[in-house]
Amino acid sequence: MRTVKVPLGDRSYPIYIGAGALSRLPMECARRQLAARCAVISDRNVAPLYGDRVLRSLREAGFDPILIAVPAGEKAKSLRFVQQCYEQLAVHRLERGSFIVALGGGVVGDLAGFVAATYLRGIALVQAPTTLLAQVDSSVGGKVGVNLPAGKNLVGAFYQPRFVLCDLDTLNSLPRREFRAGLAEVIKYGIIYDAALFRLLERDLAGILGRERGVLAAVVARCCAIKADVVRQDETESGLRAILNFGHTIGHAIEAVSGYGKFLHGEAISIGQTAAARISSRILRLRPSDVERITNLFKRADLPTSIQLRGAQRAKLIETMRLDKKVRGGEIKFVLAKRIGHVVWGEKVPTALIEETLDAAGPALNPQPSILNPSRVRC
Ligand code: NAD
Ligand code: GLY
Repeated sequence: MRTVKVPLGDRSYPIYIGAGALSRLPMECARRQLAARCAVISDRNVAPLYGDRVLRSLREAGFDPILIAVPAGEKAKSLRFVQQCYEQLAVHRLERGSFIVALGGGVVGDLAGFVAATYLRGIALVQAPTTLLAQVDSSVGGKVGVNLPAGKNLVGAFYQPRFVLCDLDTLNSLPRREFRAGLAEVIKYGIIYDAALFRLLERDLAGILGRERGVLAAVVARCCAIKADVVRQDETESGLRAILNFGHTIGHAIEAVSGYGKFLHGEAISIGQTAAARISSRILRLRPSDVERITNLFKRADLPTSIQLRGAQRAKLIETMRLDKKVRGGEIKFVLAKRIGHVVWGEKVPTALIEETLDAAGPALNPQPSILNPSRVRC
């Protein structure tokens, strides 16, 4: 089992990474003297796979858990399901010393985390991420929250978990498309922070796609360590933490304009990161060979690297980027790469250059019905 520490003073916590990590749950909760009554929040795909085992192990250790299963998918990340969770917690009399386990992907982690941050003004939270994206990104760093009809992630908090359990065995049941989408965030860490990780991904991609435990453990641990280091320096995103949004300005706009459904988050930021690399070559002289390596790695991971846009769609995408929270004074700011392993943030990019970069052909952007107003996005 690997352990990565997130050093945040009295809110520091460990991330345990390895096959079977979920079995540590009761022991780690007992060590922290958490109260017996607790809730496992999961979704209706994950609960049937892992819920019983988690509840049984908690009961055997003397805890008194309830299971709250919300629908799978982004629609559960709403105030409606926050309210439903509060009601269950109140009916089952969870107390200040009680705790919540978020068992699932990023949707469950964000929802359960927000419930934990606000119920009784905050009860303990344990993150047990079951998607690659959640293991390398959303379960670490304390961003929790839900969507409003007006936009994504508009209500939230910074609320750190007591510990994180990344059980690599849970990734075996993850659908192939979801696994590959998570890889887009993994590749991001190589581009923004660690050229050696990027080289490892180029070399060992086949093993990662084959979900080989050894290489996966090393990769998940390295991504968590990078995120921990960034969050340690800038927990509430006043500066450096923005680098985690490499490729997200365009990526979020693609998700929003296409109606949150056509592209998974990882697919949208794969296009966004490839575009950001091309823009970087024009503004920061990122070497053409690095742009090619970045594009090729996404392609080899079977992720999209470009998008086909009609004129009106391109205009809508630009308009959506202008409404992103990273925009200051109407100028669209980007995280751009100087070289693989090193990025800078807050770079102004002329609209004409964004348009030119997006003009490369790719999958058509057909709008889908959305539960959200596509105009507002927060990361
Ligand atoms: P998700 O939680 O919707 O999970 C993807 C799908 O996989 C779901 O259908 C889920 O039921 C299923 N699933 C999860 N684990 C499984 C498993 N082990 N086996 C089989 N099926 C499984 O999506 P996600 O990609 O994990 O997370 C996306 C969410 O994360 C978005 O809402 C995004 O805003 C959020 N996010 C948050 C942060 C943060 O810092 N808080 C960072 C990045 C993304
Ligand atoms: N996923 C971006 C962040 O945690 O800041």
